[in-house]
Amino acid sequence: MKILSITRALALSLAARQGLAAVTQGISDTLYGRLIEMATLSQAAYANLCKIPPAITMVQKIYNAQTDINGWVLRDDSRKEIITVFRGTGSDVNLQLDTNYTLAFFQTNPKCVGCFVHGGYYLGWISVKDQVESLVQKQARKYPDYALTVTGHSLGASMAAITAAQLSATYNRVKLYTFGEPRTGNSAFASYMNTHFHSTDPAATKYFRVTHTDDGIPNLPPTAQGYAHSGVEFWSVEPHNAHNTYICTGDQVQCCEAQGGQGVNAAHVTYFGMSSGACTW
Ligand SMILES: *[C@@H]1O[C@H](CO)[C@@H](O)[C@H](O)[C@H]1NC(C)=O
Repeated sequence: MKILSITRALALSLAARQGLAAVTQGISDTLYGRLIEMATLSQAAYANLCKIPPAITMVQKIYNAQTDINGWVLRDDSRKEIITVFRGTGSDVNLQLDTNYTLAFFQTNPKCVGCFVHGGYYLGWISVKDQVESLVQKQARKYPDYALTVTGHSLGASMAAITAAQLSATYNRVKLYTFGEPRTGNSAFASYMNTHFHSTDPAATKYFRVTHTDDGIPNLPPTAQGYAHSGVEFWSVEPHNAHNTYICTGDQVQCCEAQGGQGVNAAHVTYFGMSSGACTW
């Protein structure tokens, strides 16, 4: 038994290093619980952070009126982390960002060489960059041993990915959890993320890209328009539990994307039984 599982683990890590597709079923209860915590914050962001754990302190809200980007910098002293969470699409202004697939040069992070990101979300990022960076910097200085965690769902997921990419140029304690993330950038951006967030190894990754059954948003924008995914995909199928969460590595279309969903569907708006902004959990 033991030999078999070691062989499988080796095959997985080898496949991952070569960028080949690998899928394994089941994650630990600890990791599953962690994904639920981050999904709770991301879904609560649609409703002014309803029902988030009392241990989490609100530091300050992030907001830009032109782009209607909404986020919060939070702090969890029990887990020693500074959390930045972004709300997903909540207005027509946000929808205009969602549908702007023009790739924009990722000018704010020169360490990301040849990187282009989703043009609409880049406008979103530019609109809140100063707020995010100064808030995170103040907290990071005050709490040097805290992790810098970034999370969000849908538009909020791509905002989180761009933010994490930017913060990773300055800090090496950034962690990223996204839910129903659209493709956020080109292949140079994807490689940058995979390198900085150790995403060739599911056991070491700091980029958890969570998807749900046939959520159609991870299939957009199309790869044909120069977009690619990054991070390690954690694919949750129903009934959702730790065993029904798959780990998917490599750059092939597989797991969630292979289900063929397109755009916003039922699977997109609910993660681990929690609907965006419903606050019923
Ligand atoms: C789409 O995004 C690009 C790149 O960020 C930007 O230059 C352009 O103005 C945007 N288009 C619209 C209609 O907002």
